[in-house]
Amino acid sequence: MISPDSDCSLCGLCAGRTNIVLPSGPSDARVVLVGEGPGENEDLIGTPFIGRAGRILEAAMDMAGFSRDDVMITNTVKCRPPSNRDPTPEEMGACRPFLMSELEGRDLIVGLGKSACRDLLGEPVAMKEVANIITTIDINGTPVDFLPTYHPAACIYSKIARERLAEAMTIVRGRL
Ligand code: URA
Repeated sequence: MISPDSDCSLCGLCAGRTNIVLPSGPSDARVVLVGEGPGENEDLIGTPFIGRAGRILEAAMDMAGFSRDDVMITNTVKCRPPSNRDPTPEEMGACRPFLMSELEGRDLIVGLGKSACRDLLGEPVAMKEVANIITTIDINGTPVDFLPTYHPAACIYSKIARERLAEAMTIVRGRL
C-alpha cells in the first residue's frame, strides 16, 4: 500500500489540511469501505469516519453484526475539502494512486455515496439506480467486486438511504 508523503502537495487540498487522513482498520481486510473525503473531525484527528457520519456507519455495521475493526475504511481524497464540498475530479485524480493501492487484492469494495461511486465507476451515477447492485471495477488490472451504496450522511434525512445502507452492510457481513 502506498501513502502520500507527510508534506504531500499533489493537489490544492494540502493548503487547508491539519492531518492527512490515511485508511483505518486491518491492512489485510477482505472488504474496504470508501467514503468521499475527510470532514472537520477527521481532519483534526487523522482517522476516517469518526464524526457524525462515522457514528451512523458504525451503527449500521453493528446492526449487521460486525465492527469497523473488521474492515478497512478510507476515502477518495486524504485531505479535507474546504467547507466539506465535494472533491473535484482533479483532486480525486491526484489521490487515485494511493486509493488504488489500498484497494488491490480485496474481495469487495464498497463505495459510500455519489462522490466515491463516481470516482470508482469513472462516471456520475444516480444512487437510487445503482445502490446495492454489485458490479466489478478494474483495480490496477484486476477485476474486483464493487458495491455502490448510500453515504451514511444521507441516512440523516432519508429512510431509503438508511434501509439501503443497512442492506449493504449485511452484504459486507457475508464477505467477511
Ligand atoms: N465523510 C466521508 O466521506 N469520509 C469521512 O471520513 C468522514 C465523513
